[in-house]
Amino acid sequence: MDTLSTGVTPAPLLRVEGVTIQYKTPDALITATRRVSFDVHNSDRFILLGPSGCGKSTLLKAIGGYLPVTEGEITIKDRPVAEPGPDRMMVFQEFDQLLPWKTVLENVRFALTASGRLSGAEARDRAESYIEKVGLARFMNSYPHMLSGGMKQRVAIARGMAMEPDVLLMDEPFAALDALTRRKMQDELLRLWDDTKFTVLFVTHSIEEAIRVGTRILLLSPHPGEVKAELNSIAPDQLGTARQAELESRINDMLFASH
Ligand SMILES: Nc1ncnc2c1ncn2[C@@H]1O[C@H](COP(=O)(O)OP(=O)(O)OP(=O)(O)O)[C@@H](O)[C@H]1O
Ligand SMILES: [Mg+2]
Repeated sequence: MDTLSTGVTPAPLLRVEGVTIQYKTPDALITATRRVSFDVHNSDRFILLGPSGCGKSTLLKAIGGYLPVTEGEITIKDRPVAEPGPDRMMVFQEFDQLLPWKTVLENVRFALTASGRLSGAEARDRAESYIEKVGLARFMNSYPHMLSGGMKQRVAIARGMAMEPDVLLMDEPFAALDALTRRKMQDELLRLWDDTKFTVLFVTHSIEEAIRVGTRILLLSPHPGEVKAELNSIAPDQLGTARQAELESRINDMLFASH
């Protein structure tokens, strides 16, 4: 249907609707997020931004299908999320998410074959092509312990992207890197996005990173996380201009406002 003439916007790829998530511990019921709603569309670089403990990882795990919601619903392509699946790949903050006994190539290929996505030569070709995309062609046969933290994160990103999921879920993937490497990885992610226009849901507590990486930014309040605002980021060519400083201070004010 022609969306222009009807005024109907296309259905979102991922819909989070009124989601509350609680953890039950022996002595308390902890509400991690409260009635959070947002939509992610195809090719969005959607950012969840908020202070430590506001439930960003919790939300991402629920979208990944690793955690049940207490209230509300998460749907992907109109289907409720009930369990993990290859349509949602996760990249974590930790450097030790690779299988240590497998090489770079085997790590990426294994994800493809174990999930039944591809087999044989096709899996190998796909794995090689994504390892090349993240600049690690020379390290195909290296083991994780031979790589730096940034290189290991590149492998984890290649593995996630090679699955060609509907949405790539990234939980502070660059937080443990030094400032220079972090900046390089952010730029690289944007280059990869230019190449394939994948949809990514990216968690960070850095305002600067949110603006640099994202097209849309969801601001969450401190514990329990509730939606404070949803904003557009700026275009990459406006980075380093007054527009960036302006948006940073606006977000800062909203995050630290008392209500
Ligand atoms: N397994 C768990 N059991 C009980 N409480 C938990 C569990 N995991 C998280 N929480 C609590 O839920 C809240 C949200 O945690 P979460 O890890 O989602 O925050 P976050 O926004 O990712 O923080 P950070 O920026 O530090 O990673 C916190 O109060 C945390 O203590
Ligand atoms: Mg977290």
